[in-house]
Amino acid sequence: MKALIFGAGGQVGRALAATAPADAQLVALDRSSCDVTDLEAVTRAIRDAAPDMVFNAAAYTAVDRAESEPEAAARLNGAAPGFMAGASKAAGARFVHISTDFVFNGTGGTPYRPGDPTDPQSVYGATKLQGEQAAAAADPDALIVRTAWVYAAQGANFVLTMLRFMGERERLTIVSDQIGTPTFAPSLSRALWSLAGSQASGIHHYTDAGVASWYDFAVAIHEEATALGLLQRPVAIMPIPSVDYPTPARRPAFSVLDKSATWAALGGPAPHWRVNLRTCLEEIRHNG
Ligand SMILES: NC(=O)c1ccc[n+]([C@@H]2O[C@H](COP(=O)([O-])OP(=O)(O)OC[C@H]3O[C@@H](n4cnc5c(N)ncnc54)[C@H](OP(=O)(O)O)[C@@H]3O)[C@@H](O)[C@H]2O)c1
Repeated sequence: MKALIFGAGGQVGRALAATAPADAQLVALDRSSCDVTDLEAVTRAIRDAAPDMVFNAAAYTAVDRAESEPEAAARLNGAAPGFMAGASKAAGARFVHISTDFVFNGTGGTPYRPGDPTDPQSVYGATKLQGEQAAAAADPDALIVRTAWVYAAQGANFVLTMLRFMGERERLTIVSDQIGTPTFAPSLSRALWSLAGSQASGIHHYTDAGVASWYDFAVAIHEEATALGLLQRPVAIMPIPSVDYPTPARRPAFSVLDKSATWAALGGPAPHWRVNLRTCLEEIRHNG
């Protein structure tokens, strides 16, 4: 089986390569090898690789910057998935796209199901929703997997930012009224490979198990990292409301996803986020 990964340099792109099935032959293209907003380049890459499946892990993920760069976000998140889905379909390859909890407004109080009404509150969320629609329009059999709060042992993410701050500061204030689920990129990637190898199509939800606020997540990072010897001293971690931490983009207050259908398709639930957090921190310690 041959698989092509677009956006291979990002945290999910790298995790997809690292968790690929043993029989998978990979063509991993980062931004410098293929700009996914270039229809010709995308079409050529898919034609040349002749893959059985294509993963799109490329995206405009700078949520706050997207508010002032809506056109760039729309090209990458909104239009490019349609290019990749169309070229994949034309080549007879399965297309797998990754989307986000930010397609919801976050005013709910129970986990969002794949068919629940969308109502993005940010440029990032709106352009990611356009991308879902563009992919599904170009290839009705495309597999679209929404996830949330992704982190890995490398890349730009909350865990690595917290570890840095916790090594430098004595006090941190962290938002406690946004609730979601931290998700370890390799956990997501294993699910993506598994779903890609099944008959699944349309919109699916996948995150790790459990729920947390950013504050809970930060406290857990400190506890687990201290237990592993990655951090040596106490840090006062104080909960604050979102209004005390204004950002250009509005974020959903509650963005827990209902994963029941996906977990049933995968044969069981994902690990709890705290278990995967420990695995990630062990990897960070191992990498030095
Ligand atoms: N991170 C999260 O918390 C989160 C939550 C929900 C959903 N998701 C979704 O998960 C997917 C993967 O995200 P991630 O966390 O792995 O993000 P990431 O680490 O920011 O990776 C995105 C990758 O896309 C690449 N890219 C940017 N512009 C490109 C272009 N024109 N052509 C090709 N590649 C380009 C980036 O390259 P450069 O670094 O060189 O710009 C980067 O390597 C995205 O669809 C994202 O929307 C992420």
